Amino acid sequence: MLQKIQETAAWIKARTTLRPTTAIVLGSGLGRLAEEIDVKDSFPYADIPNFPVSTVEGHSGRLIFGYLGQKIVLAMEGRFHYYEGYSMKEVTFPIRVMYELGIKNLFVSNAAGGTNPDFEIGDLMLITDHINFQPEHPLRGKNFPTGSRFPDMSEAYDRAFLDLARTIAREKGIRTVEGVYLSDSGPTYETPAEYRMYRTLGADAVGMSTVPEIIVARHCGIRCFGVSIITDLGVEGKIVTVSHEEVQRAAEAVQPLMAEIFREMVARID
Ligand code: HPA
Repeated sequence: MLQKIQETAAWIKARTTLRPTTAIVLGSGLGRLAEEIDVKDSFPYADIPNFPVSTVEGHSGRLIFGYLGQKIVLAMEGRFHYYEGYSMKEVTFPIRVMYELGIKNLFVSNAAGGTNPDFEIGDLMLITDHINFQPEHPLRGKNFPTGSRFPDMSEAYDRAFLDLARTIAREKGIRTVEGVYLSDSGPTYETPAEYRMYRTLGADAVGMSTVPEIIVARHCGIRCFGVSIITDLGVEGKIVTVSHEEVQRAAEAVQPLMAEIFREMVARID
């Protein structure tokens, strides 16, 4: 595995001269930020040795190197999900490669169902913490030398990044909410009873991604920041049918605001 990671990182390094320290993972239908990147090099996942290939509509599947404002960034346009059939090692493989490439900061985005009754569709939720409800742990198996066998998770989402995001949102008049993101395997959306259960467990939003990537990034000492776009509500009395298309449409509308926060954060960090 380590050999594959290094092989992939070496392949990428041989094809771009850019050496970003910040990476951005763009979730379902959240690729708009990529349009603001002055792309210098991009690699379809299918061309990258050892990379899994994305299968879901709305995930175009490219690794991008370029400039967001004055800053060099790496962006993943589309990610890998457990429900697609990948193992957690595959889902988090790109994060391991990022570490090898010198990434120090990771920004992630996702679409999620809100379980907090105060949330509205279209809210931007700054992720303050998470609950791992995935059926397989990405660190199961032989420990990688990047981190401890039993990694600390007391600050999975960097507090300084959260403060910065709050400041930027306030300055720009962007409404944000905050909360705990719970990740389950999908691909079914939740039943009303499951939304209620997750709410009882302490979740403010639920989705099918992000947590495995954050766990591996933290195991690599990478500082993390995450945003959920609330695309539907798993709140009693407000539950309606959910479809992938509706989730994408709701995400589409809020993308510019998310992009603004990410762009500004990237500009202000080292
Ligand atoms: N549940 C799980 N994943 C999701 C949801 C949801 O309600 N909305 C968008 N992704």
